[in-house]
Amino acid sequence: MTGKAPQHMDVEGVNEGVGLTAFLVAAARAIETHRDDSLAEDVYAEHFVRAAPACADWPVRIEQVPDGDGNPLWGRLARYFGLRTRVLDDFLLRSVRTGPRQVVLLGAGLDTRAFRLDWPSGCAVFEIDRAGVLAFKQRVLTDLAAAPKAERVPVPADLRADWAGALTAVGFDPTAPSVWLAEGLLFYLPGPAESLLVDTVDRLTADGSALAFEAKLEEDLLAYRDSAIYTATREQVGIDFLLLFDKGIRPDSAGDLTARGWSTSMHTPFDFTRRYGRGPLPEPNDALEGNRWVFARKPAP
Ligand SMILES: C[S@@+](CC[C@H](N)C(=O)[O-])C[C@H]1O[C@@H](n2cnc3c(N)ncnc32)[C@H](O)[C@@H]1O
Repeated sequence: MTGKAPQHMDVEGVNEGVGLTAFLVAAARAIETHRDDSLAEDVYAEHFVRAAPACADWPVRIEQVPDGDGNPLWGRLARYFGLRTRVLDDFLLRSVRTGPRQVVLLGAGLDTRAFRLDWPSGCAVFEIDRAGVLAFKQRVLTDLAAAPKAERVPVPADLRADWAGALTAVGFDPTAPSVWLAEGLLFYLPGPAESLLVDTVDRLTADGSALAFEAKLEEDLLAYRDSAIYTATREQVGIDFLLLFDKGIRPDSAGDLTARGWSTSMHTPFDFTRRYGRGPLPEPNDALEGNRWVFARKPAP
């Protein structure tokens, strides 16, 4: 593990900026995978971390972290990502069991759900992210001879622009129900881009579709600048979340979906920590305080 690391600020590079956050989540999933009381298993996660020069020396097991679970980044935040992975795995599998056979991962990053989860037959998983991230992911998965458990369709696109055409061009059918996920994505997008994304999802979804997304509700993100999580992430791996998060006014996407006839429910991660018996609990000056997981359904007729 590195000590004080350089800051990575280029938001377009795969090994830097927001692309690097995908590796942080992968390292967290690797750590979660090797825990005795693991909430989610991802055998591919550590391979992504080891294959990228920018993070090849990051830990992939909690035993490799000198202060272990006491480390705000590799202990508490990694456990947060482990819990989030499990909760959203459950959401996706629950949703496809009700009928939809199309799954769209927005900002898929190094998500390997197409390979990890037991999808019903006939499922297609569309993975939208920037071309560089998807190309890196493909190289590692090809080297591992990984076989997806659903039809997997990578879709290189910029989610700040109009990506609907790219998705329908590769076989997504807007007239059939679908399940969507925006995990660790929306707070990197400018507010208008988030609104456009929600509008696009609404436009591309038939009745009976579902969407889960992660939001941050803090009015002033910078108030948490000195929180243990942001400080540890800056100092240990050189990622400054507060430089990467969009700091403009956020839209009320849950409210927008409700106004469009979706039913929505919003939860704190701590609700699920209590449900699963492990995961982060609230603490003072907590960078996770405003995090919410939103589940939305477009009612079937
Ligand atoms: C924190 S990672 C989360 C990845 C994945 N959802 C997960 O939870 O493992 C954020 C991802 O969003 C992608 N992303 C951010 N802005 C994007 C944009 N404008 N267009 C496409 N992808 C974007 C990044 O490339 C990165 O892979």
